[in-house]
Amino acid sequence: MKLILKSGLSSDTVYTIDDLDDWPVEGTSLAVLGHPVKHSLSPPMHNAAIAELATTDKQFSAWTYYKFDIPPDRLEEALAKFHKTGFRGLNLTVPHKVLATELVTIGENEVELSGACNTLLYTASGYEGYNTDLYGMTQAIETDFSIRLKDKEVILLGAGGAARAAAIACSKAGVQRLTLANRTLSKLDTIATSLNRLEQRPTVKTCQLPGELPFTCDDLLVINATSLGLRPEDPAPADLSQLPSSTLVFDMIYNPARTALLKQGEALGMPVSNGIGMLVFQGERSLRIWSRKDPSPHEMLKAVRAAMNSI
Ligand code: ATR
Repeated sequence: MKLILKSGLSSDTVYTIDDLDDWPVEGTSLAVLGHPVKHSLSPPMHNAAIAELATTDKQFSAWTYYKFDIPPDRLEEALAKFHKTGFRGLNLTVPHKVLATELVTIGENEVELSGACNTLLYTASGYEGYNTDLYGMTQAIETDFSIRLKDKEVILLGAGGAARAAAIACSKAGVQRLTLANRTLSKLDTIATSLNRLEQRPTVKTCQLPGELPFTCDDLLVINATSLGLRPEDPAPADLSQLPSSTLVFDMIYNPARTALLKQGEALGMPVSNGIGMLVFQGERSLRIWSRKDPSPHEMLKAVRAAMNSI
């Protein structure tokens, strides 16, 4: 959905830090910051959801969501400028999620536990950081597959910020057995350490990719939290062929819609799902944080879901 505003700005355009020097928007501005960010679906999704919410709540009528390409070495400078300009809310995507935790005040425990934040809320003294990845992933998996995450044995692929948030989400949901798998085995130590700080934590195994994935039962869920799959030509980060055909396969990547991992899962008769649901649930929670409408997810979710269908 392309939105041309009175100021002449468009929510389709990729803006840069220099555009903040003279930001001509009078209403409430929101944005996603990434590097690269061009292909993010967040602006059309949020703008369509905001338009829907504005039909019943005037608060949203002056809100617009933009996208900014911000290189990591300019994130600190950019956040100061966004704050000075008065952006009410920001979403952070690759590669800012971990770096940003040093630059904001911690808004919730999940940020400290995962060491990453992806949603920032304006306060008078600076931005407050939240992590909606945990909520988004849990809700998306439970909705997409109609299951309870706690009933599954999970194999988690990856060791970056996304994997760390996923591991915490699995633990908080009550998963009993978790296998952490990554190409670089040593990077899994950070995740294992953060899980040790939780009161409720699963039995954890680690394994190196590529390699055989260990499992102990048929109630398996594989989650891809690596970045392998973002490019259409990427191979799958793991081989699913030794796993039971009842294994559920969830990929956080939504663009491309079918990664090599999901294609292999499908070919093996496994139920599969990509990250579009996670984006929707994250979007819903971001809107609740920014509008301070918590807890009443229903209208937000309806609006964000309708928005996804319209773009
Ligand atoms: P994010 O913070 O978004 O999770 P990240 O910190 O860059 O991103 O993590 C990327 C993840 O994808 C890592 O687990 C990485 O594996 P390594 O720890 O071994 O680097 C994984 N990954 C990226 N490219 C990969 C590739 N070509 N093969 C296998 N794993 C890959």
